[in-house]
Amino acid sequence: MDPADLGDQLQDVLLTEEQLHTRLDEIAVEIDRDYAGKDVLLVGVLKGAVMVMADLARRLHTPVAMDWMAVSSYGSGTKSSGVVRILKDLDTDLSGRHVLIVEDIIDSGLTLSWLLSNLRSRGPASVEIATMLRKPDAAKVQVDVRYVGFDIPNEFVVGYGLDYAERYRNLPFVGTLAPHVYGG
Ligand code: PRP
Repeated sequence: MDPADLGDQLQDVLLTEEQLHTRLDEIAVEIDRDYAGKDVLLVGVLKGAVMVMADLARRLHTPVAMDWMAVSSYGSGTKSSGVVRILKDLDTDLSGRHVLIVEDIIDSGLTLSWLLSNLRSRGPASVEIATMLRKPDAAKVQVDVRYVGFDIPNEFVVGYGLDYAERYRNLPFVGTLAPHVYGG
Protein backbone atom coordinates (compact mmCIF):
# COMPACT_ATOMS: atom_id res chain seq x y z
CA MET A 1 0.00 0.00 0.00
CA ASP A 2 1.11 3.56 -0.46
CA PRO A 3 -0.27 6.89 0.80
CA ALA A 4 -2.38 7.31 -2.35
CA ASP A 5 -4.29 4.10 -1.54
CA LEU A 6 -5.73 5.78 1.55
CA GLY A 7 -7.16 8.76 -0.31
CA ASP A 8 -8.78 11.21 2.10
CA GLN A 9 -8.44 8.83 5.07
CA LEU A 10 -4.82 9.88 5.46
CA GLN A 11 -3.99 13.11 7.24
CA ASP A 12 -0.19 13.05 7.29
CA VAL A 13 2.69 10.71 6.68
CA LEU A 14 4.81 10.92 9.83
CA LEU A 15 7.52 8.46 8.84
CA THR A 16 8.07 7.16 5.34
CA GLU A 17 8.91 3.57 4.51
CA GLU A 18 12.41 4.72 3.62
CA GLN A 19 12.90 6.46 6.98
CA LEU A 20 11.74 3.37 8.84
CA HIS A 21 14.04 1.09 6.88
CA THR A 22 17.06 3.36 7.18
CA ARG A 23 16.61 3.50 10.95
CA LEU A 24 16.22 -0.29 11.12
CA ASP A 25 19.51 -0.65 9.24
CA GLU A 26 21.20 1.42 11.97
CA ILE A 27 19.55 -0.43 14.85
CA ALA A 28 20.46 -3.81 13.35
CA VAL A 29 24.12 -2.76 13.27
CA GLU A 30 23.95 -1.81 16.96
CA ILE A 31 22.25 -5.09 17.91
CA ASP A 32 24.79 -7.15 15.96
CA ARG A 33 27.59 -5.31 17.75
CA ASP A 34 26.01 -5.54 21.23
CA TYR A 35 25.05 -9.21 21.01
CA ALA A 36 28.05 -10.63 19.14
CA GLY A 37 28.57 -14.25 20.15
CA LYS A 38 25.45 -14.33 22.32
CA ASP A 39 22.42 -16.57 22.20
CA VAL A 40 19.63 -14.12 21.40
CA LEU A 41 15.90 -14.65 21.63
CA LEU A 42 13.74 -12.01 19.96
CA VAL A 43 10.35 -11.74 21.66
CA GLY A 44 7.70 -10.05 19.53
CA VAL A 45 4.60 -8.66 21.17
CA LEU A 46 1.55 -9.39 19.01
CA LYS A 47 0.06 -8.04 16.97
CA GLY A 48 1.70 -4.69 16.34
CA ALA A 49 5.29 -5.92 16.40
CA VAL A 50 4.91 -8.25 13.42
CA MET A 51 6.26 -5.77 10.87
CA VAL A 52 9.23 -4.52 12.89
CA MET A 53 10.10 -8.07 13.97
CA ALA A 54 10.14 -9.30 10.38
CA ASP A 55 12.13 -6.35 9.06
CA LEU A 56 14.58 -6.16 11.96
CA ALA A 57 15.26 -9.91 12.19
CA ARG A 58 16.11 -10.07 8.48
CA ARG A 59 18.71 -7.34 8.87
CA LEU A 60 20.61 -9.10 11.66
CA HIS A 61 23.75 -11.12 11.06
CA THR A 62 23.59 -12.51 14.60
CA PRO A 63 21.71 -15.81 14.66
CA VAL A 64 18.50 -15.37 16.65
CA ALA A 65 15.49 -17.37 17.71
CA MET A 66 12.06 -15.74 17.60
CA ASP A 67 9.08 -16.23 19.86
CA TRP A 68 5.84 -14.35 20.40
CA MET A 69 3.62 -13.18 23.20
CA ALA A 70 0.15 -11.76 23.09
CA VAL A 71 -0.90 -9.59 26.00
CA SER A 72 -3.94 -7.52 26.79
CA SER A 73 -4.66 -4.87 29.37
CA TYR A 74 -7.51 -5.45 31.77
CA GLY A 75 -10.37 -3.01 31.46
CA SER A 76 -11.05 -2.51 27.78
CA GLY A 77 -10.40 0.97 26.51
CA THR A 78 -8.06 1.63 29.42
CA LYS A 79 -5.04 0.01 27.89
CA SER A 80 -3.01 2.14 30.23
CA SER A 81 -4.29 0.39 33.34
CA GLY A 82 -0.95 -1.36 33.70
CA VAL A 83 -2.65 -4.61 34.63
CA VAL A 84 -1.79 -6.99 31.87
CA ARG A 85 -2.94 -10.50 31.16
CA ILE A 86 -1.17 -12.99 28.95
CA LEU A 87 -3.28 -14.19 26.03
CA LYS A 88 -0.45 -16.22 24.50
CA ASP A 89 2.68 -17.00 26.42
CA LEU A 90 6.13 -17.81 25.07
CA ASP A 91 6.93 -21.37 24.04
CA THR A 92 10.55 -20.82 25.07
CA ASP A 93 12.27 -21.34 28.44
CA LEU A 94 14.11 -18.08 29.12
CA SER A 95 16.72 -19.49 31.51
CA GLY A 96 20.11 -18.12 30.54
CA ARG A 97 18.83 -16.51 27.35
CA HIS A 98 19.54 -12.99 26.15
CA VAL A 99 16.03 -11.71 25.51
CA LEU A 100 15.34 -8.75 23.25
CA ILE A 101 11.70 -7.64 23.34
CA VAL A 102 10.60 -6.19 20.00
CA GLU A 103 7.75 -3.68 20.04
CA ASP A 104 6.06 -1.40 17.56
CA ILE A 105 5.30 1.39 20.04
CA ILE A 106 5.74 2.43 23.64
CA ASP A 107 2.93 4.72 24.63
CA SER A 108 2.31 4.95 28.40
CA GLY A 109 5.07 2.38 28.95
CA LEU A 110 2.83 0.35 31.24
CA THR A 111 2.70 -2.74 29.02
CA LEU A 112 6.47 -2.86 28.66
CA SER A 113 7.08 -2.13 32.30
CA TRP A 114 4.91 -5.10 33.25
CA LEU A 115 6.43 -7.30 30.54
CA LEU A 116 9.98 -6.48 31.61
CA SER A 117 9.42 -7.60 35.17
CA ASN A 118 7.47 -10.65 34.06
CA LEU A 119 10.23 -11.83 31.72
CA ARG A 120 13.00 -10.92 34.18
CA SER A 121 11.40 -13.23 36.75
CA ARG A 122 12.01 -16.19 34.41
CA GLY A 123 15.78 -16.32 34.86
CA PRO A 124 17.09 -14.88 31.59
CA ALA A 125 20.70 -13.74 31.20
CA SER A 126 19.40 -10.30 30.13
CA VAL A 127 16.25 -8.55 28.94
CA GLU A 128 16.33 -5.46 26.72
CA ILE A 129 13.80 -3.66 24.55
CA ALA A 130 13.82 -2.54 20.95
CA THR A 131 10.90 -0.39 19.82
CA MET A 132 10.24 1.27 16.51
CA LEU A 133 8.28 4.15 18.03
CA ARG A 134 8.08 5.85 21.40
CA LYS A 135 5.86 8.69 22.62
CA PRO A 136 7.85 10.47 25.34
CA ASP A 137 4.95 12.82 26.16
CA ALA A 138 2.61 9.90 26.87
CA ALA A 139 4.91 8.14 29.35
CA LYS A 140 3.33 7.20 32.66
CA VAL A 141 6.27 5.10 33.77
CA GLN A 142 9.90 5.32 32.77
CA VAL A 143 11.07 2.25 30.92
CA ASP A 144 14.69 1.74 29.99
CA VAL A 145 14.68 1.15 26.26
CA ARG A 146 17.94 0.09 24.64
CA TYR A 147 16.95 0.66 21.01
CA VAL A 148 14.45 3.30 19.86
CA GLY A 149 13.57 3.88 16.23
CA PHE A 150 11.87 7.26 16.57
CA ASP A 151 10.43 9.44 19.31
CA ILE A 152 7.13 10.79 18.02
CA PRO A 153 4.53 13.32 19.22
CA ASN A 154 1.62 12.16 21.35
CA GLU A 155 -0.76 11.64 18.44
CA PHE A 156 -2.73 8.59 17.38
CA VAL A 157 -0.73 6.94 14.62
CA VAL A 158 -1.34 3.96 12.38
CA GLY A 159 0.67 1.84 10.00
CA TYR A 160 3.72 -0.37 10.17
CA GLY A 161 1.88 -2.73 12.54
CA LEU A 162 -0.25 -0.14 14.31
CA ASP A 163 -3.99 -0.31 13.82
CA TYR A 164 -7.18 1.60 14.17
CA ALA A 165 -9.98 -0.95 14.68
CA GLU A 166 -7.65 -3.63 13.26
CA ARG A 167 -7.12 -1.75 10.01
CA TYR A 168 -4.07 0.05 8.61
CA ARG A 169 -1.53 -2.35 10.13
CA ASN A 170 -0.26 -3.17 6.64
CA LEU A 171 0.72 0.37 5.70
CA PRO A 172 4.49 0.38 5.09
CA PHE A 173 4.69 3.89 6.56
CA VAL A 174 3.47 5.55 9.79
CA GLY A 175 0.81 8.21 9.53
CA THR A 176 -2.13 9.95 11.10
CA LEU A 177 -5.72 9.54 9.99
CA ALA A 178 -8.20 12.24 9.06
CA PRO A 179 -10.72 13.01 11.82
CA HIS A 180 -13.67 11.74 9.74
CA VAL A 181 -12.21 8.21 9.88
CA TYR A 182 -12.92 8.20 13.61
CA GLY A 183 -16.40 9.52 13.00
CA GLY A 184 -15.26 13.04 13.83
C1 PRP B 1 0.27 -1.55 21.68
C2 PRP B 1 1.77 -1.79 21.54
C3 PRP B 1 2.20 -2.06 22.94
C4 PRP B 1 1.24 -1.24 23.76
C5 PRP B 1 1.92 0.00 24.19
O1 PRP B 1 -0.38 -2.76 21.63
O2 PRP B 1 2.06 -2.85 20.68
O3 PRP B 1 2.12 -3.43 23.26
O4 PRP B 1 0.13 -0.92 22.95
O5 PRP B 1 1.07 0.78 25.00
P1 PRP B 1 1.50 1.26 26.45
O6 PRP B 1 2.91 1.74 26.38
O7 PRP B 1 0.53 2.37 26.75
O8 PRP B 1 1.35 0.13 27.41
P2 PRP B 1 -1.99 -2.89 21.55
O9 PRP B 1 -2.54 -3.06 22.93
O10 PRP B 1 -2.54 -1.76 20.74
O11 PRP B 1 -2.18 -4.28 20.81
P3 PRP B 1 -1.82 -4.71 19.28
O12 PRP B 1 -0.31 -4.70 19.19
O13 PRP B 1 -2.40 -6.06 19.13
O14 PRP B 1 -2.44 -3.67 18.37
